[in-house]
Amino acid sequence: MTRTYQYYKEVFRNESMPFAFVDLDLFDANGIVLKRRAGEKKIRIASKSIRCTYLLRRILEMDEQFQGIMAFTAPEAVFLSQQGFDDLLIAYPVWDERHIKAVCQEIKQGKKLILMTDQTAHIKRIQGIGEKEGVIVPVCLDVDMSSELPGIHFGVHRSSVNSVEKAKKYLKAIAKSSNVQLVGVMGYEAQIAGLGDNVPGKQVMNGVIRRLKKRSIKEVAARRKAIVELIHSKGIDLELVNGGGTGSLESTREEEVVTEVTIGSGFYASGLFDNYVQFKHAPSAAYAIEIVRRPQKHIYTCSGGGYIASGAIGKDKAPVPYLPKGIQLTDNEGVGEVQTPIVYKGDEKLKLGDPVFLRHSKAGELCERFNTLLLVSRGEIVDRVPTYRGEGNCFL
Ligand SMILES: Cc1ncc(COP(=O)(O)O)c(C=O)c1O
Repeated sequence: MTRTYQYYKEVFRNESMPFAFVDLDLFDANGIVLKRRAGEKKIRIASKSIRCTYLLRRILEMDEQFQGIMAFTAPEAVFLSQQGFDDLLIAYPVWDERHIKAVCQEIKQGKKLILMTDQTAHIKRIQGIGEKEGVIVPVCLDVDMSSELPGIHFGVHRSSVNSVEKAKKYLKAIAKSSNVQLVGVMGYEAQIAGLGDNVPGKQVMNGVIRRLKKRSIKEVAARRKAIVELIHSKGIDLELVNGGGTGSLESTREEEVVTEVTIGSGFYASGLFDNYVQFKHAPSAAYAIEIVRRPQKHIYTCSGGGYIASGAIGKDKAPVPYLPKGIQLTDNEGVGEVQTPIVYKGDEKLKLGDPVFLRHSKAGELCERFNTLLLVSRGEIVDRVPTYRGEGNCFL
């Protein structure tokens, strides 16, 4: 399904800009490919990379292989639980007592919300609150999946548990805590899943990254297996062993101990996911900005557009120029707070009032900029749905 500038221009001919949209035909097609890429594993949806309850539901209804949500904060998980979602793994630690209490309240109602932990301090805190609330709180152990390679820390800084020895200490704290139940293990191999290895113009770097990835995949798989086996040897039955993300499905699905993989970004296929050797998804989400002036023959300046992604500062955090094909940002201005100059020398006859389409570098962050997503299918706007922000939520 190729999408042209004229296709979207016609679809959105009556819309005021800026606006964000999701092309449901491409979104659903991505779902089919992602399911295939996940192999036999269950798929948990990373809500941070969707941030729209309508689309989360749409994924869950696509196929029974999609099960459960990976939430990013406790208030978000509670919000989703109250919207009727269940099986919510909160993937990052929660410390705020009010937030843990709110999670306990949902658990009391019979919902499954799981808190992420990796330190004795997390366990003690949850134990104290769980005891007061009269709840046994399910928790998941976050295992560090980074690799220490000569001269580099290949991965991210998240969990403190990166060995069987450290997992043993953690398990001692679990054993002492009657209001905490260990139900899962999660390990996110960010250096495999979140790092493009086919970036145009970076052949040498791509080669290095692929080699590092190959080495790291083996090492982290062995670590995950050893820790899961240790837990089993203590007589603990795990409900889930979670791994991976959009960028690592081909390797994560090969690990026998893994019961489920996580996928979020692959649905919108945001800019950062353009450059992987093993897959290519269709860009289903984008936003439009309006041409409001033309300072030079080939420069079309648009209103707004400056939606930069989080993470280490770099050009890859800027939006990707999308349609018409061949548009470019300027080095000097990039995407601006109130104006974005677009360089274009192609064949489309652009004029004031016409749209230019860009794609966010990260998937979910697009939704923090818009209240509504226009949903497109077969050449028409078929619905308008709120983002988290459109529902009055700003979780992070
Ligand atoms: C814990 C965890 N799992 C999985 C993912 C993968 O999400 P996505 O598929 O959106 O890249 C992330 C992304 O940051 C994550 O933090």
